[in-house]
Amino acid sequence: MYKRDAKQSMAGRLLMRTCFSKLSGAFPECFVLSRDTSGKPYLVNPPATLTALSFNVSHAGDYATFAGSTSAKVGVDVMKVELRRNTTVEQFFGHMKRQFTDFEWQRIRSPGSDRGKLFNFYRYWCLKESYVKAIGTGLKFGLLRIEFDIGQIEDDICRTTTVAIDGAIDSDWRFEEAYLDNHFITIAVQGEVSAGEDVEDNVKVVKFDDLNVNKDLLDDEKYFVSFDEKKECP
Ligand SMILES: CC(C)(COP(=O)(O)OP(=O)(O)OC[C@H]1O[C@@H](n2cnc3c(N)ncnc32)[C@H](O)[C@@H]1OP(=O)(O)O)[C@@H](O)C(=O)NCCC(=O)NCCS
Repeated sequence: MYKRDAKQSMAGRLLMRTCFSKLSGAFPECFVLSRDTSGKPYLVNPPATLTALSFNVSHAGDYATFAGSTSAKVGVDVMKVELRRNTTVEQFFGHMKRQFTDFEWQRIRSPGSDRGKLFNFYRYWCLKESYVKAIGTGLKFGLLRIEFDIGQIEDDICRTTTVAIDGAIDSDWRFEEAYLDNHFITIAVQGEVSAGEDVEDNVKVVKFDDLNVNKDLLDDEKYFVSFDEKKECP
C-alpha cells in the first residue's frame, strides 16, 4: 500500500467520523469502528441517534466518498475513468469478462470511441460495487446475478437506472449516479430516505487538507505513523 492509497483510506475514516459527529453531536474521536466478517465497517458504540444509520465509504482516484441514511440501506462507490498504461481498452475488458452480463457488455461497448466505452465500463463498475457494498457482501455476491439497465445521463447526473436481481427487476432499489471531474460516484439506495436526507440537498465536496488529520482522530497511532512513512505512490 502506498501513501496515496492510505491517504484515501484515511480520508474515508475521517469522513465517517466527521459525519457521525455532525449527526450525533459527539466528538469525532469518540466513535469505535470495527468490521464485520465481510470487511464492512460498523459502529461498535453508536449513540441513540445513530443506531439505525446505514453508511458506507469508497475511495479511488482523487476522491474519497461517504454516504449515509438513517432509514434506507446505502452503499457507495467511486471510480476514476482511466486506462492503465500499456493496455488497450479491449485487453482491459478481457480481464473483466465475467463481471458483467452479455446485455451489460453490449451497453458498455455501444459507443464508437474507446473513451465512450471506458466511460460506460466505469459507470457499470460503480453500479455493481455500490450494490454489493450496500448489501454488505462485497464480491461474494456473484456479480452476474446483478444486471443494470442504465438510464440517460443529464447534466452529469442520472437517477433512472434500474436493477434486476436473478432476472427480476427490483424496484426497491434506486441509484444516484454522478459524473464529477472524470470520476463516477454512485450511491445505491434501498428503501426511502428520511426527510432532509435527499442526495441533492446534502452533497458536499471537502478538500483533504480541510479535514482535521491528527493522531487523535485515528483509531491508533501506529496507523498514522505507518501512513507518514509510506511513499506517495508507485
Ligand atoms: C468492498 C469491495 C466490494 C469494494 O472494494 P473497492 O471497490 O476496492 O474499494 P472501495 O474504495 O469502493 O471501498 C472500500 C471501503 O469499503 C468498505 N468495505 C469493505 N468491505 C465492505 C463490504 N463487504 N461491504 C461494504 N463496504 C465494505 C470499507 O470502508 C473500505 O474502506 P477501507 O478499505 O479504507 O477500509 C471489495 O469486496 C472488493 O474487493 N472489490 C474488488 C474490486 C473489483 O474487482 N470489482 C469488480 C467490479 S466490476
